[in-house]
This record gives sequence, structure tokens and C-alpha cells, in this order.
Amino acid sequence: MANKQFDVIVIGGGPGGYIAAIRAAQLGFNVACIDEWKNSKGGPAPGGTCTNVGCIPSKALLQSSEHFDQAGHHFADHGIKVEGLGLDLDKMLARKDQVVKQNNDGILYLFKKNKITFFHGRGSFVKAGEAGYEIKVAGAAEESIEGKHIIVATGSNARALPGAPFDEENILSNDGALRIGAVPKKLGLIGSGVIGLEMGSVWRRLGAEVTVLEALPTFLGAVDEQIAKEAKKAFDKQKLKIELGVKVGEIKSSKKGVSVAWTNAKGEAQTLEVDKLIVSIGRVPNTIGLNAEAVGLKLDERGAIAVDDDCKTSLPNVWAIGDVVRGPMLAHKAEEEGVAVAERIAGQHGHVNFNTVPWVIYTNPEIAWVGQTEQQLKAAGRAYKAGTFPFLANGRARALGDTTGMVKFLADAATDEILGVHIVGPQASELISEAVVAMEFKASAEDIARICHAHPSLSEATKEAALAVDKRTLNF
Ligand code: FAD
Ligand code: NAI
Repeated sequence: MANKQFDVIVIGGGPGGYIAAIRAAQLGFNVACIDEWKNSKGGPAPGGTCTNVGCIPSKALLQSSEHFDQAGHHFADHGIKVEGLGLDLDKMLARKDQVVKQNNDGILYLFKKNKITFFHGRGSFVKAGEAGYEIKVAGAAEESIEGKHIIVATGSNARALPGAPFDEENILSNDGALRIGAVPKKLGLIGSGVIGLEMGSVWRRLGAEVTVLEALPTFLGAVDEQIAKEAKKAFDKQKLKIELGVKVGEIKSSKKGVSVAWTNAKGEAQTLEVDKLIVSIGRVPNTIGLNAEAVGLKLDERGAIAVDDDCKTSLPNVWAIGDVVRGPMLAHKAEEEGVAVAERIAGQHGHVNFNTVPWVIYTNPEIAWVGQTEQQLKAAGRAYKAGTFPFLANGRARALGDTTGMVKFLADAATDEILGVHIVGPQASELISEAVVAMEFKASAEDIARICHAHPSLSEATKEAALAVDKRTLNF
């Protein structure tokens, strides 16, 4: 009997894959999506890393731990007395799991709504045939299906340190980091990148003594220096201990916990003894089990699937998107590529503007940016103007009791076009959208400065920072 035929088969049901499947279905294609993620009962849990062990559960725990921290340390400033404050970690983790499940169920519903055939299992290439590509699905049963177009969206996995494999008991990846059963007295993290700061914040707020060991000598090197400095001051106040310029040596794990040998920036030998260790030193593209060799699908030197600007791979009608290809490992980047590829398959002109992909670190204060940093502009020799506005001078921030940080605008010296916007402070994750829209429309700082912003709102700090580019802030 002939294999089931599809116009488009998407391998991987993370934000890249499931969004690509939905867009392809909207465009009239007969679409299948294969995803192997299992929930605790062995059932399907589409949504990938982002939904299951990434964006969604981390933000659920960041929110819960922030409430706990607010009640313990900040409600009193508002005249609210809290007595008998306690932590029910089991409930907090169960709530997080429930939020994840709602998202898994939502995606399964969307598959149905869009008439996408969902396969729960591992998809791998078998061969290229006349009607397209034969894909084996290994789930509860095994079957073969055929697709004219294949979109590979298999995501990424946490990178382990050599000699310290993840056991998810003592040495934790992002997966174990999100389900520690009791607040560790001492928690160590290797890597002060995005996961290190977000996960470090969660467990610090819940009471752990947190030490982060970072190899680079500068804190958040990819972030605008002025913003990174401001953020570091806030993390120091929260007693999130971050050691820069370290060299991590031997890691020993035992029933008692984990011992990490390391050398500090001065070259002095140190030992860190912790109950749990989270290793967050970046992620590797995931092509495990894809059987890419069967069809000759080319990988690049990093093990990512090699693609051009349009997400075309080395094979005709095979596309790859998201964490498994070059570019930032962000859910919204994966989604944008998924939409663009589906539209290209339909003969349309899907596009992704890498210059306007926003970044957000969901700590307190939040850090968000889009476009170029001041150090990048300097290195490129570009003439620019900078304007900053502190939240301290923003009425809404004062009312919130959250005045840390600033908004910073960078604009071209001659044309005033916005080249980058950097925010550290309250609601930075939401505020950055205005900057993304402005840059997408090639707006000038003056455009933002002349737009009416609601009062009192944090977004007035954005307007004021745009005014600061021309040295005419009104409230500072
Ligand atoms: P994934 O989400 O990894 O999905 C790939 C899917 O494919 C998985 O379900 C996997 O099981 C499946 N799969 C793999 N191989 C096969 C196969 N052969 N057959 C069938 N299925 C297969 N990004 C943000 O933008 N914002 C955030 O706040 C954020 N927070 C994060 C927090 C953490 C702790 C982590 C680890 C990541 C976070 N990210 C965040 C990054 C984000 O999760 C990824 O960029 C995003 O998930 C990438 O999407 P994707 O579709 O490419 O891959
Ligand atoms: P990362 O790339 O953000 O940070 C890794 C850090 O580890 C870097 O600072 C690096 O210098 C350091 N490092 C590397 N090797 C080291 C070593 N041997 N010893 C000490 N330090 C070392 O990676 P992370 O935090 O693992 O996150 C992976 C990716 O997941 C992020 O880059 C991001 O794309 C995505 N993510 C996004 C989030 C968001 O958008 N809010 C949240 C969490 C993850």
C-alpha cells in the first residue's frame, strides 16, 4: 500500500515547527507534524523545549518566585503587612506543570483546528523518492509517510561540560533546573548567560545561596555595556554572586552534592561546594536520530543544519528552521522562520528581519534590546547619537516602586534613524516592542519623541530617551 502522502511534513513540534505547520495549513497545504516529546504519562507534549522545559515553565517560576520575593521584601514598602509568609514549593512546581500542560493542549487543539495530522514519535529520513521524501515515524507503532516538502525543526539540547554529564539529580540542565524538589541551600551555576541569570534568579528569590561561575571577563558581553553594568548592580544587591573570568576545572558529584574546582580571574585556585549545580553554557543544535546522512543533508561546522538566508538546506524542498540552524536560539526567531518558509513553499515572499529580532532576559530588572549596542557601533566606526532616560524620573515607575534602570536610544548621527534600543528596568519585555516596530518602519528617534505616550506609563521613559537623543528631555 502506498505511504500516506503530504504536501508538507514538519519534523519537530516546537515553536518553529508547530507554527510552520499552522501557516502551511492556512495556505491550503495538506500538512503533517511529527513530534516526539512525551509528557509524564508518555502522551504527546508538543511545543518543544520552549513549552516543556524552556520559555514557558521558566517564566511561570520567575513569576511565582517574584511574587514570593515581593511579599517577603517589598510589600511592606506599600504598607502591606505580611505575616506567616511561607513557601509551598510542591504547589509552585505543580502550577508550573499545569501552565505547561495548558500550552501542550492548546497546540494539540490548534493542530485539529487547522486539520494538521499529528504524529507522536521520532521522525527520520529514509530516502528521497519520486513523490518527495520518505519519512519514518517511530512512535507507539512504526509507519512511513511521504512529503513533497520537509521542514526540519528539531531544536537544540543543553551543552554539557566535558567530564560532567547531566544526571538531572545533582548536575542539572535546564530540564532539572526547573524541577528541583526542595530549595537547595547552596546552588551553583556555570555560565551567566540567559539561563544562568533567569534560573539563578528563581532559586535565589526562593532562598538559595547562589554562585554563578562565568568564563568571560565581562558580564553579559553581548548586551550594551551601560545596560549590563546597571543590571549587574541590581543583581549584586540581590546577592546573586557572579564570578567573572573563571576557569572551571574538575567537577565531582556525590550523595552530599557537587564540588567544583575553579580558578578565579587572578588565577587563584578555589572550590565551590554546592547542593546542586546547573550547567548553562549554551545549547547545541539537535540532529540526533534524524538520519540526515540517508539523504545527504549537509550540516555546518557547528553541527547545525546548513541553510541559506531563506532556510533552504543542501537538498531540494528540504528546509530547516529555529534552533537547529544558525542565528539566535529564540522561540520568536524560530516562529518567524517557520512562517516565512511556509510562505516560500507557497511561492510567496516570506521574510525574516534579523536586525529587528528582540532579546529579553526575564530577570528583575528585565533586560531587553533590539538592534546594535554602543560597543558594536563604535567598533564599526558608525557616527551615532545616544540618549538615555532613567526610570527614577518616571512617575509610573515611582508609583510601582520599581525605579531601577533606564531606556537607552542609539540613533544615526546624520539621519537620526534608530539603530538600537536597550532597556533595563520594569516591563522591559513589553516596552521593547515599540522599539521593534519603530525600527521595522525605519523610524527616527524624533518620530518616537513626537508620538503621544499615555501618562503615567513606563512607555514615557521610551519617549523621553528618544528626546534625550536630541538633548531635550522634559522630565530629567
Ligand atoms: P524546540 O523548541 O527545541 O523544539 C524541537 C522539537 O522537536 C522538540 O519537541 C523535540 O522533541 C522534537 N524533535 C527533535 N528531533 C525530533 C525527531 N527526529 N522527530 C520528532 N521530533 C523531534 N526563547 C525565547 O524566545 N524566550 C524565552 O523566554 C526563552 N526561554 C528559554 C528558557 C530556557 C530554560 C531554555 C532552555 C530556552 C529558552 N528559550 C527562550 C529558547 C527557546 O526555547 C528555543 O529557541 C526554541 O524552543 C526553539 O524552537 P525550535 O522549534 O527550533 O525547537
Ligand atoms: P548563553 O549562550 O546565553 O550563555 C552561556 C554562558 O556560559 C556564556 O556567558 C558563556 O560565556 C558561558 N560559558 C560557556 N562555557 C563556559 C565554561 N566552560 N565555564 C564558564 N562559563 C562558560 O547560553 P544559556 O544560558 O545556556 O542559554 C542558551 C540559549 O537559550 C540562550 O543563548 C538563548 O538563546 C536561549 N534562552 C533564551 C531565553 C530568553 O530569551 N529569555 C532564556 C533562556 C535561554
